[in-house]
Amino acid sequence: MADHSERHPFLSGLSKHRGAPATCLVIFGASGDLTARKLLPALFNLGADNLLPTEFALIGFGRKALPDEAFREMALKDIGRYSRRPFRPEIWQRVGENTFYQSGGYDEPAAFASLKEKIEAAEKKLGRALQPVFYISTPPNVFEPILENLGKCGLAQRGLGTAAEAKVIIEKPFGRDLASAQELNRCITRNFLERQVFRIDHYLGKETVQDLLVLRFGNSIFEPLWNRNYVDNVQITVAEELGVGTRGGYYDNSGATRDMIQNHTMQLLALTAMEPPVTLDAEDIRNEKVKLLKAIQPLRLDPDRGDAIRAQYVEGLADGEKVPGYLQEEGIAPNSTTETFSAFRLNINNWRWAGVPFYLRSGKRMARRVSEIAIQFRPPVGGLFSSDTRYELSPNRLVIQIQPDEGVTLTTNSKVPGLEPRTQPVKMNFRYATTYGSNTPEAYERLILDCMVGDRTLFIRGDETESSWRLFTPLLDFWKDSGRRGLETYAAGSWGPLAADRLLWNLGHGWRNVGR
Ligand SMILES: NC(=O)c1ccc[n+]([C@@H]2O[C@H](COP(=O)([O-])OP(=O)(O)OC[C@H]3O[C@@H](n4cnc5c(N)ncnc54)[C@H](OP(=O)(O)O)[C@@H]3O)[C@@H](O)[C@H]2O)c1
Repeated sequence: MADHSERHPFLSGLSKHRGAPATCLVIFGASGDLTARKLLPALFNLGADNLLPTEFALIGFGRKALPDEAFREMALKDIGRYSRRPFRPEIWQRVGENTFYQSGGYDEPAAFASLKEKIEAAEKKLGRALQPVFYISTPPNVFEPILENLGKCGLAQRGLGTAAEAKVIIEKPFGRDLASAQELNRCITRNFLERQVFRIDHYLGKETVQDLLVLRFGNSIFEPLWNRNYVDNVQITVAEELGVGTRGGYYDNSGATRDMIQNHTMQLLALTAMEPPVTLDAEDIRNEKVKLLKAIQPLRLDPDRGDAIRAQYVEGLADGEKVPGYLQEEGIAPNSTTETFSAFRLNINNWRWAGVPFYLRSGKRMARRVSEIAIQFRPPVGGLFSSDTRYELSPNRLVIQIQPDEGVTLTTNSKVPGLEPRTQPVKMNFRYATTYGSNTPEAYERLILDCMVGDRTLFIRGDETESSWRLFTPLLDFWKDSGRRGLETYAAGSWGPLAADRLLWNLGHGWRNVGR
C-alpha cells in the first residue's frame, strides 16, 4: 500500500521536517505581543521536539536600543510564561547563545546594513551559510518599508535558487481592501518571488483545519455526500467571548469582517467547499482554493434583502459580570460605526454547490468562544418516519470544531430503546484531546517549521487574499457610506442580533445551537 506519509510533508508529521536547513530567523517587531506569546514559545517547543536545525540563530529587530543580553533574558521570561511545556535550560542553551538583537527603524537602510552584518557574523560563528527567514510581526504600517529595505540591501535575494533561499513570513492584515491588498502584493513581489513568501493565517496551522483535508479526501464516506444533492446548508461560526480589551485602537480601524471573516473564516470556507486537489502539493491546493473563492457570487448589498448584516455589541453580561458596550470601551470613538459582529449568506456558483447557502458569522462579546464548521444534510427522502408524529427526526449534521475543544461530531437519529416507537438524535464524538492527548503542537510551531522547510501548503497565496477582498470590498465601502444606517446592536454575551437570524429565516433555516 502506498505510504503517503513518506510522500508529502503535509501528512508526514516529522520526517521531512527534520531536514530544515541551517537557519537564521529574524523577527521584526521582536518586542511585541505576538513574539512574546507565540513565536518565542513556538521556537522553544520546536527545540524540545528536536526540530530546529542544529545551526540556528535568532535575531530580534526593533526600534528600541536593546543589548543582546536583554533580548535573551526577555526570551527566557516569555518562554517561561507562555510555553505549553515548562522551560528547560538545556533545550534553549544553544539557541540562547546564538540569539542577538538589532535595533533601528524599519525604514532605516543603515539598520538593514547592520542586520546583514549580524547575519554574516552568526554564519561565521556557526561555521556555515544560514537560510534567512524574515518574520514580519509588526503592525501593517511598516510592512512595506521592511520589505523594500530587505530588497534594497540584498537580503531578500540571499540564496535564491538554493534550498536555503531567503523566505519571508508576513502576518495579517494583508491589506484593508482590494486596492491596499494589491499594493501590498506589488510591494512583496517587487522584492521577493512568490515562492519565497509565507502569508500566515494561524487558523491553517490548527490541527482540525489540517484534518479537514484528511476528513474529506482520506475517507470514502463523506465526499459522495459533499454536494448540493445531500447538503442543505453550511454554517461557519467564529465567535469570541472577549470584547476589544486594550486593543480598541487597532480594532476600531478594522472590525469583525476585516479581522475575522475576510481571512480566517474564508479560509475555512475554501477548504470546506473546494474541489479535491490533484495532489497535496501547495500549489494544487491553493489553486483549488482560489477557484472556489472566485465562484462565490458577489454580495447583494440591499439593507433589507442583502446577503450581509453588521452589528455592534451594547452593554450586557460576560461570565455573569456586567460589561460595557463597544462604544464605551477604551480607545473607541464614541460615534464609531465599526461592526463587532457580521453575518453573511454566500452562494457558490458552481456545479457542486449551486443552491446551497453558506452562512458565516463572527463576532466579539458573544455567548461563548467557539469556532466551528457545521454541515447540515438534507432530510431523508420518502415519508417513512417524517409522516408519523411519534418520530422526531433531527437533521444529520457533521460538526468540525476548531476551538476550543477540537473534534468532529456526527449527529444521526436513533430509536430510543423500549416499547414506545420513539426516535432521538445521538452523537458520534471524536475529540482530539481524548484520542491523542492534549499537548499537541501550537499552530505557530507547525507554521514556522513549514516555512523553514519551504512547504507553502498552509500559507496563503497573493491571489487568494485578492479574491477574498474582491468579494468584501464593495460591501465594506457600502457600509462606510451608510454610516449607522443598517447597523444593528446585540447585547454583550448573546449570539448576536435578530437580523442575523433573519438572514437565514428567508430560506427556512436557523443558526444551529452551537455547542450542542
Ligand atoms: N498578537 C496576536 O495575538 C496576533 C495574532 C494574529 C496576528 N497578529 C499580527 O501580528 C503582527 C504583530 O502583532 P503584535 O500584537 O505583536 O503587534 P504589537 O505588539 O502592536 O507590535 C509589535 C512590535 O512592532 C513595533 N511597533 C508597534 N507599533 C508600531 C508602529 N506604529 N510603527 C512601527 N513599529 C511599531 C513594536 O516594536 P518596537 O517598538 O520594538 O519596534 C512592537 O513591539 C500584527 O500584524 C498583527 O496583526 C497578532
